[in-house]
Amino acid sequence: MGVRVDSVTPVQEPRVVAIVPAAGSGERLGAGTPKAMVPLAGEPILAHAVRGLVADVRVGLVVLATPEGLEEPMAAIAAGASGAAPVVAVTGGRTRAESVAAALAVVPDEVDVVLVHDAARCLTPAAVVGAVIDAVVSGADAVVPGAPVVDTIREVVDGGSRTIDRSALRAVQTPQGFPLAVLRRAHARGDADATDDAGMVEALGLPVVIVAGHPRAFKVTTAQDLVLAEALLAGGQQDG
Ligand code: C5P
Repeated sequence: MGVRVDSVTPVQEPRVVAIVPAAGSGERLGAGTPKAMVPLAGEPILAHAVRGLVADVRVGLVVLATPEGLEEPMAAIAAGASGAAPVVAVTGGRTRAESVAAALAVVPDEVDVVLVHDAARCLTPAAVVGAVIDAVVSGADAVVPGAPVVDTIREVVDGGSRTIDRSALRAVQTPQGFPLAVLRRAHARGDADATDDAGMVEALGLPVVIVAGHPRAFKVTTAQDLVLAEALLAGGQQDG
């Protein structure tokens, strides 16, 4: 008679936390409300962003950084989209980097992988989230989704400009992924003006790995971006 195994306790490995800095004012959108709260197809942008993150079942906790006073309502919106993953909200800071640092402070020490995802990249496909987690689990210190640059890019130099070889360029998206310890070290060193977290890890002398980004991971920044996002959702399109 063989040994019968009735149940195996599932181990949720790796333990992944998604930080969502959503404390920006969204001035460029001109909606007069924080960008993450702007409605998109009948739901706040934040709800779409959180749903996209937890589409990868390894994401077990969502930590939001919100404008002061909006912690509770924004946590409720996120919780409505986060399925089984609990949501914690903290007050954000004056800059994006300070908002991420505030969220990082409440991430449990047992976590393996931290994702940092702009709420504004609210249509990011689950495949991008999964590719970032996979690369961190495989040993990368910093992972960013990168998309080819379609415009010809010129660099402004003294007295003129020159073309840059765009084939070597990638536009950086989110979520960006890191081992928890690496992101903590980067933020301990600090750079309040950093526009993304990978740049802060790079400043530690560590390499940044690029995985394939996606056109749908674009950042909703202007009113025109909102029109595009509405159209993509209405069309149910999966590709950009
Ligand atoms: O301004 P920008 O679009 O680059 O902001 C990127 C992300 O950082 C947005 O999701 C925004 O809400 C967030 N942010 C933040 N705290 C700030 C400024 C921006 O969480 N002080």
